[in-house]
Amino acid sequence: MTSHHPAAVIVLAAGEGTRMKSTTPKVLHRIGGRSLLGHALHAARQASPEHLAVVVRHERDRVAEHVAALDPGAVVADQDEVKGTGRACECGLDALPADLEGTVLVTMGDVPLLTGRTLVELTERHEASGAAVTVITAELDDAKSYGRVVRDERGDVVAIMEHKDALAHRAAGDDLAHVVDVREINSGIYAFDAAVLRAALGEVGTDNAQGEKYLTDVIGIARRDGRTVRAHLVEDLWQTEGVNDRVQLAALGKELNRRTVEHWMREGVTVVDPDTTWIDAEVTIGRDTVVRPGTQLLGATTVGEGVVIGPDTTLTDTEVRDGASVVRTQAEAAVIGERATVGPFSYLRPGTVLGAAGKIGGFVETKNARIGDGAKVPHLTYCGDATIGEGANIGAGTIFANYDGVAKHHTTVGRHSFVGSDSVLVAPVEIADGAYVAAGSTIEGRVGPGQIAVARGRQRNVDGWVARRRPGTRTAAAAEEALAQRHTPPTPSPEERP
Ligand code: UD1
Ligand code: CA
Repeated sequence: MTSHHPAAVIVLAAGEGTRMKSTTPKVLHRIGGRSLLGHALHAARQASPEHLAVVVRHERDRVAEHVAALDPGAVVADQDEVKGTGRACECGLDALPADLEGTVLVTMGDVPLLTGRTLVELTERHEASGAAVTVITAELDDAKSYGRVVRDERGDVVAIMEHKDALAHRAAGDDLAHVVDVREINSGIYAFDAAVLRAALGEVGTDNAQGEKYLTDVIGIARRDGRTVRAHLVEDLWQTEGVNDRVQLAALGKELNRRTVEHWMREGVTVVDPDTTWIDAEVTIGRDTVVRPGTQLLGATTVGEGVVIGPDTTLTDTEVRDGASVVRTQAEAAVIGERATVGPFSYLRPGTVLGAAGKIGGFVETKNARIGDGAKVPHLTYCGDATIGEGANIGAGTIFANYDGVAKHHTTVGRHSFVGSDSVLVAPVEIADGAYVAAGSTIEGRVGPGQIAVARGRQRNVDGWVARRRPGTRTAAAAEEALAQRHTPPTPSPEERP
């Protein structure tokens, strides 16, 4: 065998995970924007197996649906009421072709930091050595409740003894009493020869401290039949660590993030404060981008080159193109164009598409809005269900009134048009290319090219009002002084302006 592609990977994910204390099955809890099972499937796929099976039981439908959504090529295998990792593995095998031969990898749905590369190495080592079983092991200071690896004088693995069974031997004081002190533990991740695995599982019983069918018993059976069992000791302990409770979930999530952030720094991204930067597993970032403190890049977010992001910015499923700047912003399912600027304090909701060199400024909320190249929405605006042409300018405080209480309607602002400050655009409405809206207008009807629409109350100045209605106030005194020394006529009212 030269290709080192395993015949199958079986992912065990039937357990309940009671210590999570959750209505969500353990393997569906997430770190780095992906479920624990999603991480396991991702690693499994990187080993390029011919077949991939996931064994389910607890919350079977939810887990199966999740598998189908993430990896439609994976086979879902149901575990029956017989308990234990051995039975789980057997159910996985039963869901695969009966004539399956070659290497079968077994992994766990709750070990999210295991990499595809480690599975490839495991497969290569296993196939090169000719062993019937190769188990990934790790050396821990505290072996806790893990299964202990028992080796012979040649270093081959003789057996794996479960913690509870090792405790029983210590209590009995028999010749296996020392096993509980072994620091090398079983990660629960293995490469098996398919035929050996199938035959041995048929023999595994439930006569042990937990009354379960242990996958680990396959090792003793293989040894009894004169087969070789090897250990593949990994240095990187995080890769073998499983999630049992929410404390471990957070610890593994943090470590995964540390690895992801380090990866992007090595790819040429400046991360000012790795400790306050969170980057999901599927995010991509271009070179010379600077990520400032307090930034979260989540989901399927993609960031181009030479971008500045943060501080204090959360982007979910958002595309940021080269040279853009996104400061103190929350965005979801948005596109931010090349050299565009966003923030500070901007809220981009789904369907926001900002063109090249466009601007969304402070205290602006956008939703389902296409804002053209070079167009600007700089201050204090709600812009929902809109198309804004290139080079248009939306004045401070403009509201796109898109909702009439029943339905949402669209607003169009044409190319290089100018909407004055504090306007309300009552949708559906269209402002043509090259048009103006006077500040403070409420626009309900179409504005044609080259027109200005003025839709507001006219200004009316009433002489002497302050003296009559606010006598004796400081305002009245100021008016009196100003009137006494006036050389110039009063400012013309707006409609008299040229
Ligand atoms: C298992 C190993 C132990 C190893 C440890 C590593 C056995 C008997 N023991 O112990 O040597 O050190 O993993 O974490 O294999 N599962 C099923 N169906 C079941 C039981 C478990 O699919 O009936 C799945 C779980 O969803 C989980 C994995 O198998 O993903 C491990 O199960 P768990 O019960 O945690 O095994 P441990 O007792 O920790
Ligand atoms: Ca476990």
